[in-house]
Amino acid sequence: MKQPVIAIDGPAASGKSTVAARAAQVLGAVNVNTGAMFRAVTLAGMRRGVGAPDECTEERFRTILDEIRLTYAKNPEGNMELQLDGAFPGAELRSPEVAALVSPVATLACVREYLKKWQRSLAETLDGRLMVMEGRDIGTAIFPDAKWKFFITATPEERARRRLAQSGENVSGATLAQVAAQIAERDRIDSTRAIAPLRPAPDAEQIDTTGMTIDEVVKRVTDRVQHEI
Ligand code: CDP
Repeated sequence: MKQPVIAIDGPAASGKSTVAARAAQVLGAVNVNTGAMFRAVTLAGMRRGVGAPDECTEERFRTILDEIRLTYAKNPEGNMELQLDGAFPGAELRSPEVAALVSPVATLACVREYLKKWQRSLAETLDGRLMVMEGRDIGTAIFPDAKWKFFITATPEERARRRLAQSGENVSGATLAQVAAQIAERDRIDSTRAIAPLRPAPDAEQIDTTGMTIDEVVKRVTDRVQHEI
């Protein structure tokens, strides 16, 4: 049976997070941002002294995963938000230091296995609601039976422009060329890793959002889901 999941995958700064959050709102669905989970594990590693990609090893992160606690809790605005060890990491998750280490951390089998179990278990708590889950491998590895799969892209130039404009990640002081280079490096690691690489599921609807507004993308996703529900 198909899972009541809307899988939204795609490369860095493609607009997935905004589209996923708005689509979830329109559909009254639970929204799960799996990038935040990988970023929280990375932050936990940094707090324990991990500072460079070559320090992101299976051995080190197995110990770190044994020590940390990832949960969801209601934030002061009343929305469910990720907590690391009982506190909201908030903006720290989007620091340039976390951004520089998250893709190497996301190549680790122990990290992917740990988060996969948690991501799948969230589907058991839905109580008839839909879930929008956003990431890199949701339609391919986490929920290959998701009822809806979208793969959201935009040209590298457009994505760098969006990231700089939105400052979703703290990129103050960076130039467009620097942001483009960071995004390209993250895409390279994400799409060439051995486990669950970034790629569209064969049955995903691909949306090139270059030249589209956020509202247009959200409408395309929600129209299809509402039509097929
Ligand atoms: O928001 P942005 O597109 O920049 O990235 P994100 O969704 O916050 O994800 C950060 C990083 O986590 C990605 O570049 C991947 O390395 C990793 N990730 C992953 O491997 N699998 C996922 N399902 C989600 C994120």
